[in-house]
This record gives sequence, C-alpha cells and structure tokens, in this order.
Amino acid sequence: MNGRTIIVTGGAGYLGRCAVEVLRERGFRPFVVDNFSASHRESLEGVDFAEADLCDLAKSREAFRKAGSAHAVIHFAALALVEESVRQPERYLKNNVGAAETVARLCGELGIGRLIHSSSCAVYGFPKEIPVKEGATFAPSSPYGESKVRAEAVLGRFRSPQLRVINLRYFNPVGAIGRFGERHDPETHLIPRVIEALRGGQPVSVFGRDYETPDGTCVRDFVHVKDLIEAHLAAMEWLERGVSTEISAVNLGSGVGRSVLEVIKTAEKALSLKAEIAFLPRRPGDPARLMADVELAEKLFGWRPRLGIDQMIRDHAQFIFPFR
Ligand SMILES: NC(=O)c1ccc[n+]([C@@H]2O[C@H](COP(=O)([O-])OP(=O)(O)OC[C@H]3O[C@@H](n4cnc5c(N)ncnc54)[C@H](O)[C@@H]3O)[C@@H](O)[C@H]2O)c1
Repeated sequence: MNGRTIIVTGGAGYLGRCAVEVLRERGFRPFVVDNFSASHRESLEGVDFAEADLCDLAKSREAFRKAGSAHAVIHFAALALVEESVRQPERYLKNNVGAAETVARLCGELGIGRLIHSSSCAVYGFPKEIPVKEGATFAPSSPYGESKVRAEAVLGRFRSPQLRVINLRYFNPVGAIGRFGERHDPETHLIPRVIEALRGGQPVSVFGRDYETPDGTCVRDFVHVKDLIEAHLAAMEWLERGVSTEISAVNLGSGVGRSVLEVIKTAEKALSLKAEIAFLPRRPGDPARLMADVELAEKLFGWRPRLGIDQMIRDHAQFIFPFR
C-alpha cells in the first residue's frame, strides 16, 4: 500500500470513476472533486470526495484542502459532449477552460507537483496526416475541441519545474471496469449507441457511407478504458522521474483504425444479435479517419495498449449502469 492521495477531478464521471477503481487497486487514496453536473454522486459510495464546481476557486480550494496533502491531480472534469458544445459554445469554453485554470492554480498554491490533464483528439479536427502525431496542427472542429486547446494553453502557463503537467489526448475510450462504464446523457459515442440499439431492437444510425475509407464509413481509434487508465499511472511515474519539461502532450489510443461497420459487426457477434442499419447523411465535423500515432506514449511511458476491440465491446456489454 502506498497510501498516496491522488485528487481525481470529475471522478464521478465515466473515466474518472474507472480511474478511482484502478488507483484503489494500486494502493493509492483517490479523492474525488466533482460538481455532479454530468454524473451521479451515488457512484462514489465508499470513496472520499468533496462537491465543488471547479469554476469556483474558493469552493475548489476548500475541496482540495479537504483532500489533504496530495501527490498528484488527475484532471478529468470537463463538459464532454461534442454536439452539445456546438449548441452551447460559451458554456463549454467557460467550464472547461475555467476548471483547468482553477486546478493549475490550486496545484501551485498547495504545492502539488504533478498534474495530468484529460485532453482529446478533438484538438486536431481534420488532421492532414494519419496516424496523427502530437505535433499536428490544432484545428478543432467544435467548441469542445477548442475548449481543450485553450485548456492546454492555460495549463502551459502554469508549467514549471515545480508543477509538471502532461496533457493526455485520448482518442476513443471504450469499455468498463467492473460496475463502472460509459453512460453519458445523451449518449453520443458509437459503441454504447450500437449496443443499446442492438438490445432495444432499434436501427443503428450510421452517419455517412461515402467516405474515402475501405467500406465508406468513418474509421476511428478505440482504446480500452483499462489501458487508458494504466497509461495515466505510467504518465504519473514519468512525471515523477521529472525527465522533460519540453513535452506537453501525448496521444492515447490503440493506433489501430476500426470502421463503424466493423464495430457494428463485432458487436453483433458479441451479443449474438443482428443489427438493422439506418444510413444517414454525414455529420458536419466528422473526419473520415482518425487514428493516433502512439509511439510517444510507448517511448516515454513504456505503455502499450493491450486489449482489443472485442474485449472493449464485451466489457461494455456486460456492465449494467446502476445509477439513474
Ligand atoms: N469519454 C471520451 O470518449 C473522451 C474522449 C476524449 C477526452 N475525454 C475527456 O476525458 C474527461 C472525462 O470524460 P468522461 O467521458 O469521463 O466524461 P463524463 O461527463 O462522464 O465525466 C466528467 C465529469 O466531470 C464533472 N464536471 C464537469 N464540469 C465540472 C466542473 N466545472 N466542476 C467539477 N466537476 C465537473 C462531471 O460532473 C462529470 O462527473 C473529460 O475531460 C473529457 O473531455 C473523454
């Protein structure tokens, strides 16, 4: 047991709650700070937490102090629905950039030296080169992506030898850890939507079948949440080693592209159900292919994703959302 406290912002949400599970398994003491704007406090039964909106500096300071002396912060808290961000751009920018600033400020004030930030492949928009490297130009195609670009920039202002910061740019995290899995409201991510539609006997909507990809549907890079969270622990160790202040961002994906139709076929097999597919027009803002170059993560963290798409789908399908 190492007993170190790790503050997990957004720890009642999908990825944060999964991180809490893994941190506990490894003997850390996760302490969650969340405002429950997109999650359920019931999911934190038995977990130490404080309720605070990270856009409120004073309340957040109180919450961080309640955590006691912390070794690191993993900052998951953000509004994270791309389509919603198009309708509410100001809310997204204010929340996600404001929360990042609060977290960095409090790390400085309270002498917390390591900060891991959940960024996203949404910062790249329509990248020119696939797989995407971390040096690719930022061209977000949604206010959500823009909020991540700005949050990274804000954190960059606070980086110092005393506060080491790494932005982890997730591609498409999927799957569950035990009871904890993905349930956004509304759920817009592909795999949960496919499984729900299959189970409910509803048609699966596929947006666009005329992309320049082998089967005409979009290709994405999915990564199992277990692998993703492991990468956070590896990133934390890397920050502890204090190797570089040059590198500010690392991609986390599988490096493997799967088309929408391929995902549907895999889900059909896993659930032994047949999908009815409703082909709809392309959605604005969807690039044809989006896959991560994951070499940097391997080089720096010694991390490599291990679990494949079948496992991601099986684990998502097995988890039952217990909170309503
Ligand atoms: N899930 C994905 O596919 C994905 C992909 C790329 C990046 N990310 C990023 O990973 C992080 C976690 O994503 P998720 O899928 O778990 O989202 P989620 O919505 O399930 O969880 C986010 C959590 O943050 C909390 N929160 C939001 N704003 C807050 C604020 N101002 N103060 C305190 N708490 C606040 C919410 O209540 C929620 O519990 C986000 O930063 C997201 O942008 C997620």
